[in-house]
Amino acid sequence: FHVDWDLETAEKAGFDHFMLKEIFEQPKAYRNTMMGRISDDGRSVELKEIGMTAEQIRGIRKVHIVACGTAFHAGLVGKTVIEDLARIPVETDVASEYRYRSPIITPDTLVIVVSQSGETADTLAALREAKRHGARVLAITNVVGSSVAREADDVIITQAGPEIAVASTKAYTSQLIAFYLLGLYLAQNVGTRDEAYVTDVLMAMNELPEQVERILDSADVLKQIAESVAKHNNLFFIGRGVDFAVAQEGSLKLKEISYIHSEAYPAGELKHGTLALIEEDIPVISVITQEGLYEKTLSNIKEVKARGAHVLALVNAGHEEEVGKSVDELFSIPKTLPILAPALSVVPLQLIAYYASLARGNDVDKPRNLAKSVTVE
Ligand code: G6P
Repeated sequence: FHVDWDLETAEKAGFDHFMLKEIFEQPKAYRNTMMGRISDDGRSVELKEIGMTAEQIRGIRKVHIVACGTAFHAGLVGKTVIEDLARIPVETDVASEYRYRSPIITPDTLVIVVSQSGETADTLAALREAKRHGARVLAITNVVGSSVAREADDVIITQAGPEIAVASTKAYTSQLIAFYLLGLYLAQNVGTRDEAYVTDVLMAMNELPEQVERILDSADVLKQIAESVAKHNNLFFIGRGVDFAVAQEGSLKLKEISYIHSEAYPAGELKHGTLALIEEDIPVISVITQEGLYEKTLSNIKEVKARGAHVLALVNAGHEEEVGKSVDELFSIPKTLPILAPALSVVPLQLIAYYASLARGNDVDKPRNLAKSVTVE
């Protein structure tokens, strides 16, 4: 009796690639990142790892979020989350830019660095720059004991578990969960949101893991979509607000592993130049989950449709009919609060990138020219 066995196959636990395994681990990563951080009665966030007093939190005048790559995209969502929940002004920067643009960092600035590995050179340098100016630094990282975790004043560890694939998936979504918890925690301390509101958000967050499972159940549909995307050399992602932040992450994911060129654009900005690139049959993936922005984004969809684009819309359950009339394909996202939508809408984009890479015969887990952790500047 002989069994062929190697460590890597065992670690992939039956999945063809680490990336696919990690995409499917997201429900667990969400649960683990929330675990122990919500009060027993489900009405408030408890971040015992944060040493800031309520008074210090009330003294925060602005927040800078600094990160690279996918973590930067999580930071774009983080900006909306913190501004919406705690009403503190937030700027999000790419770490390699932040360091050299002479940012205005004061002692009442909270600098949040986001890094899966906690070892990215530019992010670490930005952290040091922030500290040098007397700011308090909070790190959101997946690695206990990493350089970023050691040097920050406060650390929120995302409980995504080890991420092996170069293209980040479960680390990104766990960073979103961390931002939701942090946003609520700041709001509780600043007093911008009452207990009933916080409870509603927490209840909706509790449903996210099961909602992600439902999206994962439709992987076959996304595989088909990806196989037609893989035949193209150019495409666009559009969205407004946090949908645009998700569009940017979807575009990056696709570029990293399928090597297909794509651009993410704020839906309303297309007409100021980029629309010139829309031609017959070009795929446009549109993220459209934000109440109040449907009509606006739909009118942008009509602009690209009129020029021959093939439009796929990711839309909230309940809006299929309204959006369906104007698009070629539709994928429905379970209903959640607008602010939480990125934690769901990014998942189909991850799967589209994965299957497009597969269809093109690429090395999904180890894309050319890229490294999991970039420790040089
Ligand atoms: C590299 C990886 C990306 C990652 C980025 C930031 O470029 O390929 O997937 O998003 O670094 O990494 P970090 O560990 O700081 O989140």
